[in-house]
Amino acid sequence: MEHLIDRAARDIMASKRTIALTGAGISVESGISPFRGKGGLWEKYDPEEYASISSFMKDPARSWTLLAGMLDVIKSARPNPGHLGLAELERMGMLKCIITQNVDGLHQLAGNTDVIEFHGNNRWLVCLDCGKRYPIEWVSPKEIPPRCECGSIKVKPDAVFFGEPIPPEALHRSYSESQNCDLMLVIGTSAVVYPAASMPQVAKRARAKIIEINPEATPFTTSISDYLIQGTAADIIPRIVARIKALASKTT
Ligand code: OAD
Repeated sequence: MEHLIDRAARDIMASKRTIALTGAGISVESGISPFRGKGGLWEKYDPEEYASISSFMKDPARSWTLLAGMLDVIKSARPNPGHLGLAELERMGMLKCIITQNVDGLHQLAGNTDVIEFHGNNRWLVCLDCGKRYPIEWVSPKEIPPRCECGSIKVKPDAVFFGEPIPPEALHRSYSESQNCDLMLVIGTSAVVYPAASMPQVAKRARAKIIEINPEATPFTTSISDYLIQGTAADIIPRIVARIKALASKTT
């Protein structure tokens, strides 16, 4: 393990343009459940029934039985050492941007300033009937589903539901950043949801190195990743940052 931490630190230091692609795994230590695997949300809830745009339009109240709990967790969640490590890498000038599939806003709370929210976010809500937007704090546990000022209960988090398109600007920038990086950190994603999962492939085709950080292997591990550092984001990322600092202090 230590040799892989050292290898990643050296690869990042040698890179001219490192970016990260993150998934639900990086927020697990902030108390947010992932979607797949043991304890994953999709074990308990069928995404087609609760998180697709067609089911939401038919019955917003049913989707809100899942959404209310999700929003509650996000409201009180704080960045963990994995998020904070990526923010530190940005401050050190060693991380250009983050493409995240997460909708929790924790990268921004940690201090990253260039975060592409591939699947939108749950910190804002929008009324699908009149377009009015509300911050997450506006949702009260006393009124689920929440009702817009216009009377509609079609108030939906600004996250991408199944059946909805990826926000065009996020998609466009993600492709461009993936094409132009020379190193991509792929952190805490099962790498099965497209088009997000095509970003490492785009980067690889552009000859970037791909480093995975995940307790488990993914479909990328034996296909396009250069190497997997097997462990949690909250453990591994701070260790890489510390190693970079140690190496940098030796050379100055
Ligand atoms: P998943 O839940 O599919 O995968 C989570 C990944 O995180 C798995 O590979 C785990 O092994 C890994 N993991 C678990 N704990 C970890 C930890 N402490 N540190 C690092 N990694 C850890 O989440 P995503 O790949 O993000 O889409 O899922 C992609 C999309 O599927 C989500 O954005 C969401 C979902 O349906 C939408 O909501 C549109």
